[in-house]
Amino acid sequence: MRVLGIETSCDETGVAIWDPDAGLLAHRLHSQTAIHAEYGGVVPELASRDHIRRTAPLIEQALADAGLGYADLGGVAATAGPGLLGALLVGLSTGKALAYARELPFLGVHHLEAHLLAPALEDDPPAFPFVALLVSGGHTLLAEVDGVGRYRLLGQSLDDAAGEAFDKTAKLLGLGYPGGPAVAAAAAGGDPGAFDLPRPMVDKPNLDFSFSGLKTAVLNRAKAAGGDGPTPAFVADLCASFQEAVVATLWRKSARALQETGLNRLVVAGGVGANARLREHFAQGAGELGAALHFPRPAFCTDNGAMVAHAGALRLAAGERDGWDRTAVARWPLEELRPPKK
Ligand code: KG4
Ligand code: ZN
Repeated sequence: MRVLGIETSCDETGVAIWDPDAGLLAHRLHSQTAIHAEYGGVVPELASRDHIRRTAPLIEQALADAGLGYADLGGVAATAGPGLLGALLVGLSTGKALAYARELPFLGVHHLEAHLLAPALEDDPPAFPFVALLVSGGHTLLAEVDGVGRYRLLGQSLDDAAGEAFDKTAKLLGLGYPGGPAVAAAAAGGDPGAFDLPRPMVDKPNLDFSFSGLKTAVLNRAKAAGGDGPTPAFVADLCASFQEAVVATLWRKSARALQETGLNRLVVAGGVGANARLREHFAQGAGELGAALHFPRPAFCTDNGAMVAHAGALRLAAGERDGWDRTAVARWPLEELRPPKK
């Protein structure tokens, strides 16, 4: 079943067409970065309005890219949550309207499930079961994944998500928005050993995370810079040290999760998975452990339509459908998901 997927949970409008046999036929993305940059973060109302402007044209473009028409689609999937309610409603309503008009099956997709399954968009998809580290702007969690909809939460952040820590660090250092890529760029010329920053919770035996103390430690070091404030070289060293602390902490807990579950496959997904230093550190660690490591390509780590089309197609193909009363939900814990139901 060829599925059109729509993603509008936050500040990216993503549209894609996934075919279970032929793979990804088209994907289009519009990022709202320029709109939110002057506010230093996502403004929900502006996000919703821009999704309204972008979604329908992106669908037309994706279909044109694939050389397809509406009659060639077998189903429609759109992110139903978690995320910003107004933003979610745009993609969800568009998807439902399209499915209703074309008499196609429709399904609301869980945004985090779409992220977790995104490595299967690549050439060498991971087999179940695996350990997944999901690191996005809103969530940081480790889960054992035994199949579609079979998720056992192993640990999660008790405060800030990893992406949020990047975003807040960028903001307090005046590096702009979005923070993750800005901190990564600033860190490029820095010394990761310059500042001895805390590696939160690494010595605790559980698989939970905490990143809010790290952000405070960065703030305190920046304040202590003295003189006219932090120089570019100082900021580079601080960003490199911060990035190293986050990456090392994420790796330590991921390695422990592999050990505790006895699994030897690790999947990393979500926006922070696009971080080059993280990918390098994890590749080295996984190599030492003899574990297989799977990432989506960086463009499919951050929000996109391809992961939604793909996750939706898996469930639609198994016979799962939503009614026209399906609505968007801001909060939707991953553990509430179940295997596809007819
Ligand atoms: O998955 P995502 O696109 O959206 C959510 O579902 O939250 O993740 C966005 C998060 C943001 O916090 C962003 O700063 C972070 O991912 N991010 C990065 C990088 N690219 C995006 N963090 C570190 N390094 C990057 N290269
Ligand atoms: Zn996301």
